[in-house]
Amino acid sequence: MNIPNHVAIILDGNGRWAKSKGMPRNYGHVRGAQNLEVICRDAYNMGIKYLTVYLFSTENWKRSPDEVDALMKLFRRYTKTCIRTARDNNMKVRVLGDPTALADDLQESLKKLVESSKDNTGLNFQIAINYGSRDEIVRAIRKVAADCVDGQLKPEEITEERFSGYLDTAEVPDPDLLIRTSGEQRLSNYLLWQLAYTEFYFTEVPWPAFTKEELAKAIEKYNKRDRRYGGVKEE
Ligand code: IPE
Ligand code: IPE
Ligand code: MG
Repeated sequence: MNIPNHVAIILDGNGRWAKSKGMPRNYGHVRGAQNLEVICRDAYNMGIKYLTVYLFSTENWKRSPDEVDALMKLFRRYTKTCIRTARDNNMKVRVLGDPTALADDLQESLKKLVESSKDNTGLNFQIAINYGSRDEIVRAIRKVAADCVDGQLKPEEITEERFSGYLDTAEVPDPDLLIRTSGEQRLSNYLLWQLAYTEFYFTEVPWPAFTKEELAKAIEKYNKRDRRYGGVKEE
């Protein structure tokens, strides 16, 4: 079995999962966060080297203040736990997205998480929080423009590779497989540049119920795909 080097996940369906159990949406987020720790370990044990997960989009601020508040509390707790998990499991954590809209203490914890795990050599774990792909591209363009104005970069020197280096995912190879749980078949502003040649896998299973077996199923399907990158199939 060919294990994808980089798997990106849109972990969706926490709210619907909770509702189906007669529980409040926030309970779904709590269980979703717990499941993330489990899947993280499973992914690494299966041989996945990069795992990138979507925790909060630039559009998710539109949710009720109650839900946003509960999510932020959860991220605070999750980030602290993750500092320990990263140390125990040799994970290198990167944060994608614009942290400046997050509360100061959360920004501090995220910095600590990245800093304390930067020399780890196991799973490369990217968490996208206040992340939107269009926002990421615009922030990258601003940096490119600033470097051009400074004379550090000439417009004709801007290549796809150079530009990739200005994105939040600089250093991270493009995903091989994208998984979205809970039935929706859209990207919701996730990694638009990076997913140019990624295989997509959609499942009805909501995130809190997504297991190692479901991950294995996605990888099995991925193995049946014929990746071409615009070329023709080799006989
Ligand atoms: C995904 O679950 C988690 C976040 C977007 C924060 P949702 O909260 O989107 O759950 P559904 O899609 O409403 O069921
Ligand atoms: C995408 O899920 C964002 C995250 C999983 C963090 P949403 O539930 O917010 O996406 P839409 O609103 O269904 O497109
Ligand atoms: Mg959703």
